[in-house]
Amino acid sequence: MLLSVIMIIIAYLLGSLSGSFIISKFMHLRNPCDYGSHNPGATNMLRVNGKLPALFVLIFDMLKGLLPVYIAYRLAISPFYLGIIAIAACLGHIFPCFYHFRGGKGVATALGTMVLIGFDFTGLFICTWLTTVFLTGYSSLAAIVSFLLAPLYVWFIHPEFTMPVAMLSCLILIKHSSNIVRLSKGLELKIFHRGKQK
Ligand code: G3P
Repeated sequence: MLLSVIMIIIAYLLGSLSGSFIISKFMHLRNPCDYGSHNPGATNMLRVNGKLPALFVLIFDMLKGLLPVYIAYRLAISPFYLGIIAIAACLGHIFPCFYHFRGGKGVATALGTMVLIGFDFTGLFICTWLTTVFLTGYSSLAAIVSFLLAPLYVWFIHPEFTMPVAMLSCLILIKHSSNIVRLSKGLELKIFHRGKQK
């Protein structure tokens, strides 16, 4: 129990580290929080600073989700607490204690926490995301569709993880409410949007 609580705290603190902020500082690039959609995530990093920095942010944000869940798994922490640790990492990304509790939407971090469920589930999830982006050009819509389908996918393939994946999905979908409003008004930025930014 104590070990699980320690891992939950570590997951939250790790999740609170912003890949976007750290990488833009380290590479002397524009801070995505000030441009584009103002979201500190890989998508907005792509719009503001290009492909390579966006890839770094994606890897960073995925790793901070994957690492605490992997360590907890190696420490034989129960699946119930693994789910809570995954949620703590995403809450860290969404409400980071190091950045006045104003963070991103948690997509990459949630994906990182879900990788250990299995390559079948992760593969299906990534295919859904890529297909939606390919067909529509909207990263936010791809995240919405993928997280709507994720609980269904996991229920079919690894039913023991349905509850934590459903909880993660709810969190991510709620965080996309502003995107849903912009999509419905036709004001959403596409993933490769290069227009007026600020
Ligand atoms: O990963 C975040 C994405 O779903 C939406 O990002 O910048 O289009 O609001 P953005």
